[in-house]
Amino acid sequence: MCEVMCGIVGIVQNNKSKIGKQIIDSLTKLEYRGYDSLGIASITNGTLLIAKDKGKIAEVTEKIDIEKIEGKVAIGHTRWATHGQPSKENAHPHTDCNKQISVIQNGIIENFIELRNELLEQGHTFLSETDTEVIPHMIEQVLREEEISLKEAIIRAINRLEGTYAICIVSTLEPDKIFCAKKDSPLVIGINKDRMFCASDIPAFLSSTQRVTLLHDEEFLTLTSSGYEILDLKSKKIIKRQPYTVSWKPEMAQKAGFPHFMLKEIHEQPRALSDYIRIKQPSVINIAEKIYQAEKVVFLAAGTAHYSTLTGQHLVRKYAQKSCNSIIASEYDSIRDIVDEHTVIVPVSQSGETMDTIMAIKDARSQGASILSAVNVIGSTITRHSDEVVYLYAGPEIGVAATKTYLAQTTAMWDIGLELGRISGHLDDNDYRFHRNLFTSLPSAVSRVIAANEALSNRIASWLARKSSSFYLARGINIQTANEGALKMKEIAYIHSESYPAGESKHGPIALVEEDYPVVFITPPDQTRKLIIGNIMEMKARGATTIAVMEKGDKEIEEMTKWQFKIPEGYGEKFSTITYVVPMQMMAYYTAVRLGYSPDMPRNLAKAVTVL
Ligand code: M6R
Repeated sequence: MCEVMCGIVGIVQNNKSKIGKQIIDSLTKLEYRGYDSLGIASITNGTLLIAKDKGKIAEVTEKIDIEKIEGKVAIGHTRWATHGQPSKENAHPHTDCNKQISVIQNGIIENFIELRNELLEQGHTFLSETDTEVIPHMIEQVLREEEISLKEAIIRAINRLEGTYAICIVSTLEPDKIFCAKKDSPLVIGINKDRMFCASDIPAFLSSTQRVTLLHDEEFLTLTSSGYEILDLKSKKIIKRQPYTVSWKPEMAQKAGFPHFMLKEIHEQPRALSDYIRIKQPSVINIAEKIYQAEKVVFLAAGTAHYSTLTGQHLVRKYAQKSCNSIIASEYDSIRDIVDEHTVIVPVSQSGETMDTIMAIKDARSQGASILSAVNVIGSTITRHSDEVVYLYAGPEIGVAATKTYLAQTTAMWDIGLELGRISGHLDDNDYRFHRNLFTSLPSAVSRVIAANEALSNRIASWLARKSSSFYLARGINIQTANEGALKMKEIAYIHSESYPAGESKHGPIALVEEDYPVVFITPPDQTRKLIIGNIMEMKARGATTIAVMEKGDKEIEEMTKWQFKIPEGYGEKFSTITYVVPMQMMAYYTAVRLGYSPDMPRNLAKAVTVL
């Protein structure tokens, strides 16, 4: 049993008040990372207290009054199980035989079977099936064998682990400290004047502090209420790392009156885009120049981020007239043989922690490629393995289904694309200026798209909620828009939704269409429009009920489709991959809500996929 995408948090403070409540508040901000079970360990009056159970935070806190727990030190965990059933026994924290050492972990200990067998022979008793449970027993064993400090024993135990991990440890042996270590799973440190935090992600402590620093791979952290010490895990040398202030505001990690984070994040899209556009990043021009000079260009990403890279691929081909591929990160092997020092790799990621993407860029880098990334989370693993980074500045995204970060990723692709057009001369001065002006107006366009289409998306949702399958069809650059629309519907409303190049649908998928079958068409007024009209007619002839995402005022499309999402004029030829996706995000959201599902925490999914 391995826990690979969990949320972890630790708090050390100089008074005992309300530590249970603070851990729950922090875990609530991390619940997007997993919600199978919840657990907390605190040192209360010198005793190790453990409370844990299976279920989401709200379910567990209903049964156990975790909020009343007091203490100066506590760690908490919300879990996303990958092997075996979620259960109370498998919920973190895990402890040693003497109930003195307690551990939470995010990651996979690959050699845990070997370590567990060794510990069983030495007489240790295991209460769970988890890999994590070997850690407290290993520390206990080191302390049994040698008279050394707790810190030294933990370092020795951790240096025997193989795999990926972010670990937090508390013990009654040193009741005023939290010990942590990290390799390939994220761990950030939050600094407040009377309280210190460690957590998987910044929103966990954003309501207390915006002062942050990072723990890097193979480093060891000792946290007290007044400070932190970072050591290299192997050499044990002290590493000095200064904190910095993040611009994310505490209210960004709250729902601000919206029923769900996803709806809030959809509505935040104009703000996210204007932040991105306002903060001029020199890296955009640097990336465009490097792409222009490169022999080979490869975009790498997963899921929604992959769809955004299809805009990048399109623009590199169009504006740099260069062969370029957008590869799903887990399929990196398919291009590995052509990656060399003449290749630029462009990874795109919200979290910067997606393991498929990380492994691919690490390999590409080892083969001499340059890594030029577009990432939302500052300081995340992908940014640290990059030669240049353009940040998305979308703010924290809590809803598991990506919305505002997709728009920000796609906006970054257009931003780089426009620079490429300028550098290559494909866009002359007038064209470039015209495009830049239109680009600057995108936040207002997206705002109008939301206002004009939200009520309709809710109405269509009441019909779609009764369907078990749907098609999303487009041509050209907007195939990615259809892909993203269908992915949203699958992820949160659990309705089978297939996206297809519209012209390809007649080669097979059309066989599924019957009376009242939902088909969404993306119909911007570009060169694809004429052919799309033919595809709408084909689908209607087979009984399909058609929904168009179309330019406002397009009478022909309006007359031939049942429902129409209307996009302001002027964004159909350029930037349609930004404006045309928004109604489909809302339609998926309202469908999920009508079906009684939680759009923020869809089943089986986690926000950052840190497993291969
Ligand atoms: O953090 P990343 O952007 O690298 O994540 C990539 C995908 O896991 C992510 O986009 C996923 O597809 C989301 N669930 C989409 O809503």
